Amino acid sequence: MKRNIILHPDPRLKKVAEPVEDISDALRTLADDMLETMYDAPGIGLAAPQVGVLQRVVVADCIKDPDDTPRPLVMFNPEVISSSDETRVYEEGCLSIPEQFADVTRPSEVEVRWMDRDGVEQTEVFTDLWATCVQHEIDHLDGKLFIDYLKPLKRQIITRKMVKLKRELARP
Ligand code: NI
Repeated sequence: MKRNIILHPDPRLKKVAEPVEDISDALRTLADDMLETMYDAPGIGLAAPQVGVLQRVVVADCIKDPDDTPRPLVMFNPEVISSSDETRVYEEGCLSIPEQFADVTRPSEVEVRWMDRDGVEQTEVFTDLWATCVQHEIDHLDGKLFIDYLKPLKRQIITRKMVKLKRELARP
């Protein structure tokens, strides 16, 4: 079932999400709903706080070529355990900040540990777009948005545009 994506600014997007305990069917349903919501948007990543659930759950699929096999990744309690000194700049966007994009510099490679949908611990080194995406999504679990990396003025401009957009959307 598709869920509603919360738009910035919203206090729920600024909160630190709680770790997941046991992987229950409810959590697996949440992850499935998040994947459906992400693909429908369409986007390459989504974190649970963006659908109003303050738990440490992330989904992602950075396979963009429709001829390639999709890789719907579900991560519970993901954490970056090491990052490269080398960085990469990518023009990021966010489903909670539609139509706003800005360059963000992040480590180009990260090793991430998480629990999969069966509760099994996984670790993997992510590179390129996957590295950017996974770091962006894990940031959401700590109440951090990509615009928090920008200069205050740029961040204010984007936030003002979003306030205006939300006002328009709320109009009957
Ligand atoms: Ni985002």
